[in-house]
Amino acid sequence: MKVTLIKGDGIGPEISQAMKEVVGALDLDLEFEEINAGLSVFEKEGTYIPEALFDSINKNKIAIKGPITTPIGHGFRSINVELRKKFDLYANIRPIKAPGPLELKFDGVDMVIFRENTEDLYAGVEEQISENEAHSIKIITRDKSERIIRAAFDYAQAQNRKKVSVVTKANIMKLTDGLFLDVARDVAKAYPDIEMEEILVDNTAMQMVMHPDRFDVLVTENLYGDILSDLGAGLVGGLGLMPGVNKGKDIAIYESIHGSAPDIAGQNLANPIAMLLTLCLMLDDIGENAKAKMIRDAIYKTLSDKTNYTRDLGGSATTKEITQAIIDNLGA
Ligand code: NAI
Repeated sequence: MKVTLIKGDGIGPEISQAMKEVVGALDLDLEFEEINAGLSVFEKEGTYIPEALFDSINKNKIAIKGPITTPIGHGFRSINVELRKKFDLYANIRPIKAPGPLELKFDGVDMVIFRENTEDLYAGVEEQISENEAHSIKIITRDKSERIIRAAFDYAQAQNRKKVSVVTKANIMKLTDGLFLDVARDVAKAYPDIEMEEILVDNTAMQMVMHPDRFDVLVTENLYGDILSDLGAGLVGGLGLMPGVNKGKDIAIYESIHGSAPDIAGQNLANPIAMLLTLCLMLDDIGENAKAKMIRDAIYKTLSDKTNYTRDLGGSATTKEITQAIIDNLGA
């Protein structure tokens, strides 16, 4: 099976290499079609997203991607956002669960965040009113709310999960978040076995820190989902461990939550586990569940030995060392 691979910027090439080595160590029918996007491509080709990348994703339907650097506050628009828009990847799905026996403040955290990926304040509709005033328009529509909420309930049903928490700030944003909540109330009627909880985003943030085990599946708008999933990552060991996927109707781009980590790029310090767990999400979806389990088990075993910890986990192992340890633990 052919999969498009976007290595990305910063630590992207290092963690992509780690992923390729793990795939190489397993008997997997996967061929990576490597096409890059981002700053490194712009410097060579004068464009951030080459046409060949769009063609490749359209053809293969599945891509796995390293992080891409976006200039903050100015410069070109996020390539991640462009890709999500172009392929209408409306569901950003982020499982929050510790992948190993880490020393954490909380046990039993096991939630999945469904984040709407195409509208809200990320629609990029901003207006400079004057030198001292700028506006950003929050866009929420019925159709786009409905499909992400339905995706969350469908997932809950398929995975035997009991509760979907619908996160909004509908007490303040009565029109936009009010619409999202109304749609959720409608959608929930078709899933009588699943409890729907209505919860405000500020309370969600506090509850996630104080009682994270009370959450099961969460569904929310783009901005809240972005922030809450980083918060969730912090509960279970940090950004270096957290996988994710952006799904549309028939195309999926798998990518970790973390960014390009320019502070540690090229230094053999990045934790490849987020990328490897992202690969596992992909393997699950293409029916390679046994191989995904092998990788997850190997990661669990690797994290049982603190000498394998990379710097983000408080250790001193390098990207290459932890990757090798995971490969050595495959099938162990
Ligand atoms: P970041 O996630 O790159 O880094 C935040 C902190 O986490 C840094 O200290 C970094 O060293 C650490 N970190 C992240 N991933 C790690 C890993 N795998 N192993 C060890 N440590 C890790 O977030 P930041 O600094 O806000 O963004 C940097 C760039 O990445 C920006 O240009 C941003 O736009 C871009 N970005 C891209 C994303 C994507 O392509 N999907 C997602 C988030 C940010």
